Amino acid sequence: MNTNRLSVPMQNALISQMTKEGHAAQIYLSYGIWADNQGYGGIANFLYRHSTEERSHMIKIMEYILERGGKPVVEAIPAPPQDPKNITECFNKVFQHEVDNTNAIYKLVNLSLEEKDWATWNFAQWFVKEQLEEEKLALDLIDKLKIAGGDRASDESLFTLDKTLGEMPDEETLARTANTENP
Ligand code: FEO
Repeated sequence: MNTNRLSVPMQNALISQMTKEGHAAQIYLSYGIWADNQGYGGIANFLYRHSTEERSHMIKIMEYILERGGKPVVEAIPAPPQDPKNITECFNKVFQHEVDNTNAIYKLVNLSLEEKDWATWNFAQWFVKEQLEEEKLALDLIDKLKIAGGDRASDESLFTLDKTLGEMPDEETLARTANTENP
C-alpha cells in the first residue's frame, strides 16, 4: 500500500526546495564570512543568524515531507556565489536571492494548486508569508545602507549601521518555534 500522500512531482519539488533553502543557508554563511573579514562584525552576525534561519526552513520542509509519508533526500548543495565587492552589492544580492526564493515558493504553490494538494498548498502559505517578511528585511537593509550614504558612506555611519544590524532582533527564533501545526 502506498502511504505517501505526496505525488512524485510534488515530493521532488519539495526536495528541491529543501536544497534551495540549504543553498541559501550556505550563501548567507559565506557572505557573513566575507563581512567578518572586512571588519563588519555586526553585519556578519546578522548574516550568520540568517543562515541558521534558512537551515530551519530546510528542516521545516523535511519534516513536512516525512509527515506526509514521503522520503526527504539530502542533495548536494551548490557552492555559494563569489564574494560581493562591497556592502551595497552584498545587500543587493541578498535581496535578489530572496526574490529568487520567493519565485521558487510560488512554483510550489502553483503545483499544489494544479494537483489540488490542499495540504501542501496550506503548508506553502507559511513560506509565502515568510518570503514577504524576508524580502521586506532585505529591502530594509538596502534602505539603511542608502541612508548611511551607500558606497560613499563614511566610516562613522558604516560603524553605526554595522552596530545596528548586529543588534537587530533574532528572527531565527520565530522560524524555529513555528512548525507545521503552528505555522
Ligand atoms: Fe528561506 Fe530567505 O528564504
